Amino acid sequence: MTNNGMVIFGGTGDLAYRKLFPALYNLHCLGSLPADYKIVGIGRRDYSEDEYIDIVQEWMREFSRLKYSDEEFEKFKSRIRYYKMDMSDGKEYTALLDFIKKEEIEDGLIYYYAVSPELFDPITEGLKIANCKHKKCQCESVDIYDSCCMGNTKVIIEKPFGENLQAAEKIYENLKSYFKTENIYHIDHYLGKEMIINIMTLRFANAIFKAVWKKEYIEKVEINAYETVGVDSRGGYYDKSGALADMIQNHLFQIMSIVAMEKPKDNSSISIKRAQNDVFKQLKDINEEKIDEILLMGQYNGYRDEEKVAPDSVTETYVALKLEIENERWQGVPFYLRTGKKLDRRESEVIVTFKSMGEGIAGNHLSIKIQPDEGVKVNFNIKKPGTESQLINEVEMDFCQSCILENRTNTPEAYERLLKSCMDSDKSLFSQWEQIETSWKYINKIVDSYKKYSNKLYFYEAASNGPAESF
Ligand code: BG6
Repeated sequence: MTNNGMVIFGGTGDLAYRKLFPALYNLHCLGSLPADYKIVGIGRRDYSEDEYIDIVQEWMREFSRLKYSDEEFEKFKSRIRYYKMDMSDGKEYTALLDFIKKEEIEDGLIYYYAVSPELFDPITEGLKIANCKHKKCQCESVDIYDSCCMGNTKVIIEKPFGENLQAAEKIYENLKSYFKTENIYHIDHYLGKEMIINIMTLRFANAIFKAVWKKEYIEKVEINAYETVGVDSRGGYYDKSGALADMIQNHLFQIMSIVAMEKPKDNSSISIKRAQNDVFKQLKDINEEKIDEILLMGQYNGYRDEEKVAPDSVTETYVALKLEIENERWQGVPFYLRTGKKLDRRESEVIVTFKSMGEGIAGNHLSIKIQPDEGVKVNFNIKKPGTESQLINEVEMDFCQSCILENRTNTPEAYERLLKSCMDSDKSLFSQWEQIETSWKYINKIVDSYKKYSNKLYFYEAASNGPAESF
């Protein structure tokens, strides 16, 4: 299949500058983009193409994984176009399609929705109506629009896929009426992270872990994604979303399901997704009135002063959630999911604590380090050296994969990996609709119970380790 280009809605946004352009620049440097591949950034701002390219260049200097080079950027920049439009105005899409046609990138085109969820539907609608007018599809009316006429055009849609289940369903229905289902890619960039992909190998390629991966040996599982950054320029989006929808429903749920799933029947993406989805379906139902026992929401002091955040906002920037999975393997084992902004460290990891082997003996720990360092750490017990007694010392083995310089620059960034997968029509590292649906159902219930029976919000200082009350 030909890949001719990518159109980024939200081309002047944080995501485009920090993640998408650096990923595309690296793919360009690695020779993974076809010679005539073009990238169209769409935004409302009045930039000339040169001004836009200058901005992109500054971000590349800072965010490219591969060493930035002026010489390579000179070649890369010939791929970049800037297109100004109001994405919420349906009438502007006909001109956009004309532009795409003129640039000759229709074949194998990828649309990237790097915008807030409320723009997803207007963009899809705008494209649909304009495409109808183009008579490309011979469609009589938009209502009977046939998604087949979109051929191999793909769409990548950013999380959160809506603000709740109903919104997510509506967005998906709308997308399906325009794009073929197999061409809709729900991106969750955590699925492209090296150590998250590695969890399956760790679990299923090592007898020492595989054999003890069950309630008989495991005391608890913790999945933490701590950030030092606040909401920066994303206050408008974040204030409507909050940490539950921004991080828990997608990134942390995906990790949890990979940690907890049964061994998939085979390595196909369908079997893996099915195994993950079974975990979501087996989440223990919540006792609504006792929501405080499993959920804690926090907000950093100063959040309400952030740009585009309501002065009386009750949006959570910190969440601690305790889950249980009701199946043979996990019955009774708590899973703690925690995430927060403006904390004292950037650290994402999975910590599995094993049961103690007797009084006074520490349980073993296995830490899968996702970022900033990537690696695996195991804590275990040995006899205190130099003594004849059975006094026990806890020691650790620490494997830091990313500390090896070669690996640091050799491992593709998540977005790089995922954009390439999409170009290659490989969906295995993308979220699947059923997973999104099941996880939203659970999160919806949590939110409803919180609003009905709790509404407690714990404040914490910026650069601290979160609310003191957190579990
Ligand atoms: C995004 C969230 O999906 O992930 C952001 O919208 C968050 O709020 C980011 O900061 C974290 O990603 P990473 O790769 O920096 O851990």
